[in-house]
Amino acid sequence: MTDPQPQSVEAGLTRHAIFLVVLIVGDEASGGRAKALLGDIPGLVRAVGFRSENGQLSCVTGIGSQAWDRLFGAPKPAGLHPFREIHGVHHAPATPGDLIFHIRASRMDLCFELAQQIMAQLGPTASVADEVHGFAYFDRRDLLGFVDGTENPSGQAAAAAALIGAEDPVFAGGSYVIVQKYLHDLAAWDRLPVEQQERIIGRKKLSDIELSEAEKPSYAHNALNVITDENGEELAILRDNMPFGDIGKGEFGTYFIGYGRSPDRVERMLENMFVGNPPGNYDRILDFSRAVTGTLFFVPSAAMLDQAGAGVAAPVAEDQDEITQPARSDGSLGIGSLKGGETA
Ligand code: HEM
Repeated sequence: MTDPQPQSVEAGLTRHAIFLVVLIVGDEASGGRAKALLGDIPGLVRAVGFRSENGQLSCVTGIGSQAWDRLFGAPKPAGLHPFREIHGVHHAPATPGDLIFHIRASRMDLCFELAQQIMAQLGPTASVADEVHGFAYFDRRDLLGFVDGTENPSGQAAAAAALIGAEDPVFAGGSYVIVQKYLHDLAAWDRLPVEQQERIIGRKKLSDIELSEAEKPSYAHNALNVITDENGEELAILRDNMPFGDIGKGEFGTYFIGYGRSPDRVERMLENMFVGNPPGNYDRILDFSRAVTGTLFFVPSAAMLDQAGAGVAAPVAEDQDEITQPARSDGSLGIGSLKGGETA
């Protein structure tokens, strides 16, 4: 049996992105409306995306742990739990989020239009917990000035890193995504000699060439973030970080977004960064960059996302009374039916 078609997890970096984290009101009607939206997302992407020839519009939708419990119940993806806050040398906070929409396109108007349409469909039953508009900065640099994304896996390796397989068959073709919004103290970073910045990142700033093993300290970002399994095989993740900022507010950031076939991979990397490996040998980026959000989501396969909305009629009016209730009386996603490989 082939795994179900994933969402556009592997779409790759574009010039623009919107990262939209949404909270759903906890009543049943709101849940029904959210489920209906999930099934409608592919249609919305087609409608907005078709209006631009080379727009590359895509949207990956993820569901948070508490929202999953409320909307779908059992069975639950094996790795889905609330983001685990880390108190290490530095702090990685956990922040709320029921749904995430990772919207990518070559034009911001497409991202913006889709985000607007999504929120219009959710109506008053949802609120935005966090919204970040990311942009490509020159040759894919972050605002610290380093090229970000070089060692990302591609092709089959990207799928193997990011997509759930036989280890959790009901949820095969799905993924997990962890997001964190980082705010940089750019003035302090820019005061560091470039050679020290390069030791912190583990790569040359201008050329993006990796430092040799002899040059690279054990605390380098790309030393702490290379993790392996018990056989010494590297466990990769798929990152689609984007810079963002607000000049007036003095805000300069990196929106970290990492997909993995298990959240454990990103969690191990975060442990290495915030606590250190060994403890105390932490990631020096964090002396200059503060994580202000942290949330974990499950990303269903495209087929499962479609099924989430199956049988749930889209609401026709803003009026709460008119919101159609979920059709499934057990309140479940009906994902059990995917077990039989209907979507393979
Ligand atoms: C302030 C936040 C961050 C910034 C500015 C940043 C920047 C960078 C840069 C410049 C590179 C080198 C180029 C590349 O291979 O992409 C890199 C590599 C990498 N980063 Fe980050 N990163 C951040 C947060 C994170 C987090 C939170 C994780 C995981 C939990 C992570 C995981 C990785 C991995 C796996 C690599 C590739 C390592 C390798 O194979 O060489 N990064 N990052």
